[in-house]
Amino acid sequence: MRSLNEFASAKLAELERANLRRRLVDTTRLDGIWALRNGRRVLSFSCNDYLNLSQHPAIKAAAIEALQRHGVGSGASRLVTGNHPLFAVLEARLARLKQTEAACVFGSGYLANMGIIPALIGASDLVLIDELAHACLWAGARLSRATVMPFHHSDLAHARALLDQHRARHGRALIATDGVFSMDGDLAPIAGLAALAECFDAWLMTDDAHGMGVVGNGRGSTFAASAMANGVDPAVPLQMGTLSKAIGAYGGYLCASTSVIELIHNRARSFVYSTGLPPAIVAAAIAAIDLIARDPAYAALPLTKAQAFTRRVGLPEAASPIVPLVVGDAETALEASRLLEAEGFLVIAIRPPTVPAGTARLRFAFTAQHPDDEIARLADIVRQRILTAPPQARAAPARGRQG
Ligand SMILES: Cc1ncc(COP(=O)(O)O)c(C=O)c1O
Repeated sequence: MRSLNEFASAKLAELERANLRRRLVDTTRLDGIWALRNGRRVLSFSCNDYLNLSQHPAIKAAAIEALQRHGVGSGASRLVTGNHPLFAVLEARLARLKQTEAACVFGSGYLANMGIIPALIGASDLVLIDELAHACLWAGARLSRATVMPFHHSDLAHARALLDQHRARHGRALIATDGVFSMDGDLAPIAGLAALAECFDAWLMTDDAHGMGVVGNGRGSTFAASAMANGVDPAVPLQMGTLSKAIGAYGGYLCASTSVIELIHNRARSFVYSTGLPPAIVAAAIAAIDLIARDPAYAALPLTKAQAFTRRVGLPEAASPIVPLVVGDAETALEASRLLEAEGFLVIAIRPPTVPAGTARLRFAFTAQHPDDEIARLADIVRQRILTAPPQARAAPARGRQG
């Protein structure tokens, strides 16, 4: 159709003019940290494989063994014939790690959020969501057809004011937040949000995609919050996350009570109507969770490395393995990324709509195996050649949600 192609070309030209057009670039990961890109071997600070487990020999061996025994695909939705017994093993491990009664594994983190929220929340309900929450938490909230209200980033007073004003007009209420914010690396005020949820009869849901495996002794942001509150566990009845980052595999999950999980099996459309994960991926995730549970010292390494970087550059101390360097406009972020690539470092520029307009940034993701001397070299280049930009370009994140 001519009009369809004209529409697509015009949209692409618009994105190009704003420096917001994205392109796929072939990237071959050579091991946990090195990648081949644009014909060069580069040290990647843009993988969420925080523990480098996607390349771990024991985890690869678990996946290969399951692949040989059970084949490639699962063949059907889990409610039909795609529910390989390995799922029950994985879900028991997840529930034990997160100290919940039960867990449910989805095809991906995105699918989990698209399924969980509409299964629990409907048109007459209220969803309060952190304005910087991940796009798929927003997508799930919108799909529920509830009234969706963003609260200012990690601002408990604003969340309370919204609940004061609107809670009474709605049946059920959900408070949704990232546990570790994907583009900013900061931790949500989970204990405070749990107290608000308790006070207003709302349900707290955390998306711990970037907390699992790397904060709270590898158990995630709820456990980091508990450590900050002198061991008092905040009540987080809905702990969602992904198996595709620190776990090094693929898939999403929800840890919750048995009744909630059984309801999810019946009502979450992205669970009911989507094929189960391949058994090899499930086997890999089990092996990865075992490794994290056995070795919290290894799980602490990405944060330690991120903190060494922030200290050397002179940035606020990292709270997670994610360190943002906000530079302002998209072109400046692209230039900084190109400068680092020329030095052998892969640090992708993050631009709107992934982050709010005016807050394009470099996002550094530290992993367990990044060599200390390379981190020091990266930090020195950032300090000497990127931080010389005008200071307003590095202001705190502006208001606004992801697109
Ligand atoms: C905070 C957050 N939630 C959810 C997701 C989606 O998870 P997945 O990649 O497993 O779909 C991501 C990542 O991509 C994320 O950063």
